Amino acid sequence: MTAGSRLRIISVVGARPNFVKLAPVAHALARRAGVEHLIVHTGQHYDALMSDAFFADLEIPAPTVNLEVGSASHAKQTAAVMERFEDTCLALEPDWVLVYGDVNSTAAAALVAVKLGIKTAHVEAGLRSHDRSMPEEHNRIVADHLADLLFTPSRDAVATLRGEGIPLERIEFVGNVMIDTLIRLRGKAKGGAARLGLPERGFVLVTLHRPGNVDDPAVLGTICQGLSALARERPVVFPVHPRTRQRLAEPALAQALAGVRLVDPVPYLDMLSLIESAALVVTDSGGVQEETTFLGVPCLTVRPNTERPITVTEGTNRLVGPGEIVGAARRALGDPRGAGPGSAGPRSAPVIERWDGKAGERIAEVLCDGKQYK
Ligand code: UD1
Repeated sequence: MTAGSRLRIISVVGARPNFVKLAPVAHALARRAGVEHLIVHTGQHYDALMSDAFFADLEIPAPTVNLEVGSASHAKQTAAVMERFEDTCLALEPDWVLVYGDVNSTAAAALVAVKLGIKTAHVEAGLRSHDRSMPEEHNRIVADHLADLLFTPSRDAVATLRGEGIPLERIEFVGNVMIDTLIRLRGKAKGGAARLGLPERGFVLVTLHRPGNVDDPAVLGTICQGLSALARERPVVFPVHPRTRQRLAEPALAQALAGVRLVDPVPYLDMLSLIESAALVVTDSGGVQEETTFLGVPCLTVRPNTERPITVTEGTNRLVGPGEIVGAARRALGDPRGAGPGSAGPRSAPVIERWDGKAGERIAEVLCDGKQYK
């Protein structure tokens, strides 16, 4: 404990999906007397549309510190977070460091904190794609094996960690923080489709940013052709991540996307509203797989694997190859069940254990009250 015996907790976040996961933890900790919760932003994402817009929509307090690491190669970015975050830890002397998700900032901050002997917790632990070509997979493994405390979003993640030899004492099955945010803000997330002039439940929403999909022009070209074919049948809207935007500067790729409506990255509330109004989502994002499953919106994930298998076994998610998008989309859009796209009726969504809006509160209970969630 620090001076005045307040529990000082630092949350480290760096990239867009981290902010969504931080929000419910920040709100739960803010309700606690005797807790000082500080936010350190690594600056991995720095564009207003990738960062500030999220802090505003999610109502997260401004970061205490911004490490301003910016974009760089994996090693340089990770190293910059480590060097700068070490100084921050030495200055702020936290009792706990919380890291989120699977971005480079996550692994870097975990490594710094444990080496300083600071108790470290990983929020969204136990996810594995078993695909070592994904940078996120390295980050997940590092964070999980270093952290003292692992907060898992689903029961299968507990089994995964146990299978890697991590003792149950270190694991708390608290539920899904990303879904906490969705539940809290769903009522406010309205009108995204109308603002873009898109028909309710009559359009396809696309997000793509994984290096495996966008860095190889041949793969990206195949995906673009598929999306363009879909756009001949119904509107396709594509908020473009900066990484993808750079790749699409290639004229041949831009041409292959003919008919697809490209827009800037959208803030959280607009994105949630668009997901909920879409007939179908095509993505390679991790969080979007969970959000579509929770909302019962059909989702095609353009990847050979997922670290969130529950979205396939229990949810609406289907894995597809780059060349399979059109066929899979037509099948999904033609789903004759009432819950399918195009239907005005309610969509059926699975009920997944502890995807209930209370994960952030459970994390606060574990950290502050020593409560257990096994
Ligand atoms: C990162 C995460 C990824 C996560 C994604 C969410 C890693 C290894 N990857 O990927 O897991 O799903 O965030 O969006 O941590 N750029 C900008 N403005 C920004 C940020 C990035 O223009 O605010 C551009 C830069 O050219 C940069 C590129 O996007 O080089 C990639 O950014 P980076 O943070 O390295 O990885 P992401 O692809 O965003």
